[in-house]
Amino acid sequence: MRSSVSAAAIAAVLSLAAIVPAGAASKAQVKRGEYLVNGPVACGNCHTPRGADMAPIKDKAFAGGFPFNDPGFMTYSANITPDKETGIGSWTDAEIIHAIREGADKDGRIIFPPMPVPTYNNMSDEDVKAIVAYLRTLKPVHNVVPDPKYAIPQQTMPPATVKKSPPQSDKVAYGGYIVNALAHCFECHTSPGANGVPDFKNGLGAGGFLIALGPGMSVATPNITSDPDTGLGKWSDTDIKKALTEGISPTGGHLSPPMPYSNFKNMTDSDVEAVIAYLRTVPPIKNKVERTDFQKKAFP
Ligand code: HEC
Ligand code: HEC
Repeated sequence: MRSSVSAAAIAAVLSLAAIVPAGAASKAQVKRGEYLVNGPVACGNCHTPRGADMAPIKDKAFAGGFPFNDPGFMTYSANITPDKETGIGSWTDAEIIHAIREGADKDGRIIFPPMPVPTYNNMSDEDVKAIVAYLRTLKPVHNVVPDPKYAIPQQTMPPATVKKSPPQSDKVAYGGYIVNALAHCFECHTSPGANGVPDFKNGLGAGGFLIALGPGMSVATPNITSDPDTGLGKWSDTDIKKALTEGISPTGGHLSPPMPYSNFKNMTDSDVEAVIAYLRTVPPIKNKVERTDFQKKAFP
């Protein structure tokens, strides 16, 4: 029977509509947002400032101010708590969604790099809405963040078009979604081209990108392609899982920030397995990356 929607089901939907006001987030949405933000998406990896020891400052969670000192720009992560004056408490949902997926603030100013907006451009409507629902529940923290300076030209992003994420039952597709729409692995792990920015065409996942945590504190990202000699080709699933969730690698010892393992450790086993299944499909590129002296010394 096709027209099998029962009167009872319709009544149930109507009564739900009556108790959940339009625009209000459901509990399930907030829970999904909490999982994404503190797990695979790791917004706090940039938006929570760190002390001199690089540990996140707990009572300033998501309050911004972490500096990104790059030859091309000097920016500070924004305060994304609901504080009305210094955070995003007065922004509408649509304005926050636009900032995350299309990279412009409510006045139209472009806010990236380094925020991985090209990755978030692939984020689904349901996931970005869940993230906003969770951000609304954070403790407001009053924290003024300095203005950014960009020396490089900034690109604009096309409108985001992904409505639904792929089904979690399709491990490789869902793992690809986590990597390319949420966890921005490649924005850190891709080799730089001649202009110093990640070369997604020729160096996808091949590492060697230098990230400065501070003066004299540069870290080089490893090769995470499936190349057997210089990438992850010979690593077992357990080896990769340990690196992602515990920050321990069979070749590199303790992994340094900004590898977001303290967020990735909150990922479900099934999401970690999906990421690994997808990584196995990333074409091998031979590129041997040496850890910097700082990496070896500070995170042996
Ligand atoms: C790699 C670092 C990085 C990551 C990861 C990141 N951001 Fe950002 N974000 C920034 C920086 C830096 C700025 C400030 C840029 C500027 O002012 O030009 C910013 C700005 C913003 C803004 C604009 C706020 C304002 O007041 O202008 C919002 C909203 C935002 N981020 C939300 C998020 C959310 C939500 C996530 C996770 C889904 C996230 N960001 C992940 C670095 C990051
Ligand atoms: C913000 C940048 C950043 C992001 C995002 C990131 N990584 Fe990393 N990752 C690093 C850095 C830096 C290291 C090296 C740390 C060290 O050696 O001390 C690293 C190390 C690793 C290692 C260990 C490799 C080795 O040879 O020791 C693996 C595996 C890895 N990352 C996979 C991933 C995957 C998969 C994702 C996405 C789910 C990801 N990373 C996201 C920066 C990042």
